[in-house]
Amino acid sequence: KQVYAGIDLGGTKILALILDENGTVLKKTEAATHAQEGADAVIGRMIELIREGLDESYQLASIGVATAGTLNSGEGVVAYASNLGWTNVPLGTKLREAFGVPVNLENDANAAAYGEWAAGAGRGTKDCVYVTVSTGIGAGIVSGGKLVRGRDSSAGELGHITIDWKGPKCLCGNVGCLETYASGTAIGRRANQMAADLPDQAALLIEKAGGEAITSRHVAEAAAEGDELSVRILEEAGQALGAGMVSIIHAMNPEVVIIGGGASSIGAPLLEPMHRYIADHGIGTMARGVKFVSPLLGKEAGAIGAALLVRE
Ligand code: BGC
Ligand code: NA
Ligand code: ZN
Repeated sequence: KQVYAGIDLGGTKILALILDENGTVLKKTEAATHAQEGADAVIGRMIELIREGLDESYQLASIGVATAGTLNSGEGVVAYASNLGWTNVPLGTKLREAFGVPVNLENDANAAAYGEWAAGAGRGTKDCVYVTVSTGIGAGIVSGGKLVRGRDSSAGELGHITIDWKGPKCLCGNVGCLETYASGTAIGRRANQMAADLPDQAALLIEKAGGEAITSRHVAEAAAEGDELSVRILEEAGQALGAGMVSIIHAMNPEVVIIGGGASSIGAPLLEPMHRYIADHGIGTMARGVKFVSPLLGKEAGAIGAALLVRE
């Protein structure tokens, strides 16, 4: 039986799926990434996970990998992935050597967008944007019924579009990137800053963090309990997210926008200010016509999308 491997390589976890030709998941294996052990160890772990998922009756036809960061997919190289600490890692080549099958690398958000579009919340649409708000912010764009991959499968870096050209420096080298205002990391950073400046107002946040750094999760919890400072932090992040959304909506004129990722589960305190911003600043019907939906494939979207994409 011909099977297809789809892998999501994340900063903390590797998820490997084996799919049949209909896209049905036959096997699922996962392991911690342990990026600090270096690229070879991580790649070795990916190879083990794929082997574990392969039954004797399975014949592996291809491997698709979803990974954060920018790629040089034609050459099978991860060009730069900050969450893994990788620069120019020949991941595709190594997997090809191990299994002797075609391998495709795709940006994580692009792969998830393709998965959701082909088999999830974007099904049946032609123009659909998937946005993930988590540690970083990423996006994948389906336009005219095709995933926009760009030259290197790196298109859709929504987290690094400029929303303030005089803004603070981003890890990517640019300034004023959306990610520096609205990612989970940014929300946590802002909260810690506020806690240092306004300890009285941040009492609940400081208590929740219990001596450790405040994270976006603490902010979400406190906001849900009505904490004013936390609501304000999420309001600002939500507006920034709205500014990013307006840009992508104006660029792509999508029918549907799917919002996924960890921080999106913060829900209303982040998403309401976002929607308000879009309503106030987006161009007329272009913005008002967009349907916002939740993802359907959850954490498996990237791996499923990566597996399906190889056959494109
Ligand atoms: C990276 C993107 C990625 C996103 C979500 C960003 O920091 O630049 O490539 O899609 O995080 O993981
Ligand atoms: Na992308
Ligand atoms: Zn950036």
